[in-house]
Amino acid sequence: GDGRKKEFDIKIKCMIYLADTANIDEIKELFNYFPMEGVTTNPNILSHEQKSLSTVIPLIQECIKDKMLHIQTISHLAEDILQEAKRYRDYFNLGDNYYVKIPVTKEGYKAIRLVKDAGMKVTATAIFTQQQALIAAKAGADFVAPYVNRLDNISSHGIDVVRDIVETFKSYQLNCKVLGASFKNVDQIYRVSMVGCHAVTASYEVLDAIMKHPMTDKGVIDFEKDGKH
Ligand code: G3P
Repeated sequence: GDGRKKEFDIKIKCMIYLADTANIDEIKELFNYFPMEGVTTNPNILSHEQKSLSTVIPLIQECIKDKMLHIQTISHLAEDILQEAKRYRDYFNLGDNYYVKIPVTKEGYKAIRLVKDAGMKVTATAIFTQQQALIAAKAGADFVAPYVNRLDNISSHGIDVVRDIVETFKSYQLNCKVLGASFKNVDQIYRVSMVGCHAVTASYEVLDAIMKHPMTDKGVIDFEKDGKH
């Protein structure tokens, strides 16, 4: 029996925004004001909160309800990654909104298949090339997460990698979606949205910055002033 090929057809008509943070105040504010679709975490992000995973995940769940929750595994071997993913699923009572984030190491590629076989969804992460993304998608990943700013910082071009991955998935009609990650400025998000990136995950600071403009604030001040007459 092939429990595999449980296809989760994630329908994304327009780019979705996720919060790359485990800070509860930030998550609360973002989800209160903006059309957010989920939260992504990784060990770096969690270490900033000085709280254990078992404390922070339930708090995040409370804020985001059934929106997507991507939790990274830290095990090295494929079998251990699978066990870790199952542990989180069972301990936090995670459902269909749970995505197992797996870095694309050699063991990681194998783990993608194992986790999919076990009926869970996968976000392949720490992607730096089109080929890593294609192989992760073939292994069964539902999302791939290319690191845009980290590419830009080594004199590569995150935007080109994202565009290549989007085009590749389109031309081979793969169901896998591109979740752009690692953003440090507004322009990086603008550019990936212009090449059909399906989703982005960004920090509170970057998300806050993409939603405002000083001319909007000035316009509103002027409206208010004249509105008083
Ligand atoms: O989601 C990936 C992200 O957290 C990595 O971002 O800023 O550490 O490159 P950064």
